[in-house]
Amino acid sequence: MRQKVIILDFGSQTTQLIGRRVRELNTFCEILPYNKFPVGDESVIGVILSGSPYSVYDPTAFKVDLTQFSHLPVLGICYGAQYMSYTMGGNVEPCGKREYGRARLETFEPDSPLFKGFESRSQVWMSHGDTITALPKGFRRIASTEDVEYAAYQAQDKPVYGVQFHPEVYHTAQGTQLLRNFVVDICGSRQDWSPSAFVESTMKELKKQLGDDKVILGLSGGVDSSVCATLLNRAIGKNLTCIFVDHGLLRKNEFQNVLRDYEGLGLNVIGVDASDKFFSELSGVAEPELKRKIIGAGFIDVFEAEALKITDARWLAQGTIYPDRIESLNITGKTIKSHHNVGGLPEKMNLKLCEPLKWLFKDEVRRVGRELGMPEHLIKRHPFPGPGLAVRILGDITREKVRILQDADDIYIRGLHKWGLYDKVWQAGVILLPVKSVGVMGDERTYERTVALRAVTSTDAMTADWAHLPYEFLAEVSNEIINNVKGVNRVCYDISSKPPSTIEWE
Ligand code: XMP
Repeated sequence: MRQKVIILDFGSQTTQLIGRRVRELNTFCEILPYNKFPVGDESVIGVILSGSPYSVYDPTAFKVDLTQFSHLPVLGICYGAQYMSYTMGGNVEPCGKREYGRARLETFEPDSPLFKGFESRSQVWMSHGDTITALPKGFRRIASTEDVEYAAYQAQDKPVYGVQFHPEVYHTAQGTQLLRNFVVDICGSRQDWSPSAFVESTMKELKKQLGDDKVILGLSGGVDSSVCATLLNRAIGKNLTCIFVDHGLLRKNEFQNVLRDYEGLGLNVIGVDASDKFFSELSGVAEPELKRKIIGAGFIDVFEAEALKITDARWLAQGTIYPDRIESLNITGKTIKSHHNVGGLPEKMNLKLCEPLKWLFKDEVRRVGRELGMPEHLIKRHPFPGPGLAVRILGDITREKVRILQDADDIYIRGLHKWGLYDKVWQAGVILLPVKSVGVMGDERTYERTVALRAVTSTDAMTADWAHLPYEFLAEVSNEIINNVKGVNRVCYDISSKPPSTIEWE
């Protein structure tokens, strides 16, 4: 049986990060809403309680019945630590002002299993508005910082621990060590979750699940669907047919290049040029959500028409990954932007869904891709939105605007490769603004368009910083774009982070 750690989500921004850090320890884990602990599941070896935007004494705070897992090791992080302490008879109070940022462990108990291998005065990351002021009976303090007396605690007679700081955050210097101490030593993980183990077990499962059935899959050129296709191709070969739709809003020459890559991988792939349809349906449409809806619906039409030609297909495979599925506790309940996929199709066509990557985080998908021998440039490709350049052209879309944007984007991306910057950023792209301004070229006055360059660093696209690209690089790219892309006479660099901005402009 595959061991797993359960992470109960109380709505923290960093819950997914906890999951990724546990996976980095070659240990399988599942993130579940705080009230969905899988009672009776014997493969669970330990539980982690996440942070939360709530205070434990808030009447609407998320509450969990701790007795459900009283037989297991537990690690409470921030709210998780406060919640355990509070419900078992300790005390939690507001700290007066929110503590946010770096702190140092002034004292810690080196003999505690949680701190095995720790160096003194280790840096930790704090983010809390409440603090534990008294521990329940049977618990003792095992670390403190200058401002926080109970920075960590443990129960006397059971493997239950709480930390006020965030070991999952990279600013906590020995966070990985702490999580390893908990997951490996305290919970007893065998650390057998690895890309090669995943490929081996998934191949077996796919062969069993699919038998001799025919499967169709929509390729986007992105990492997830490409890895999914390669994995399936290994498992069932020619019974897999891939469909790659060109909506005309891809990067310059992307359709041809990616198609060639896919053929090189031995995939059975049908490329469909549907750009005329998309351009005509998008004509005159400037509203961002409407553009997204038209592209989403158009994509399904084209995909369905192609898929129907494969009359005996039984399955639709998708490169859905774990973060797409995690039932995150969206406290506000608001949709910021609609994302598109081939929703609705399986029911309509009576197809069963096959999602072999559904348990993987993005970095794990990349590692699986490497394990499968895929070329590095496919694996390291930046994320690109499904609606493509449509959400990078502000206002309505025409072929001419797409041409301008593709040319500028091509110069930018090639520049990033040339300067060794491509792999240092999470994603980059050019945005065409609905703004014209005056310039001068030679002796001529110009009145042309403006483009904005965007590059961000991120670990999961949930938050992102604008990338601090070198001025010399920006100068070179700006010159090259203005000198070579007809229709552009001004280049800006986007210095907004997410939040409050988003990565894409629409
Ligand atoms: P935002 O703009 O919301 O983007 O900060 C977060 C990440 O998602 C990508 N993105 C999309 N990907 N279909 C996709 O497959 C979409 O409709 C879509 N919209 C945004 C975006 O490029 C970034 O990586």
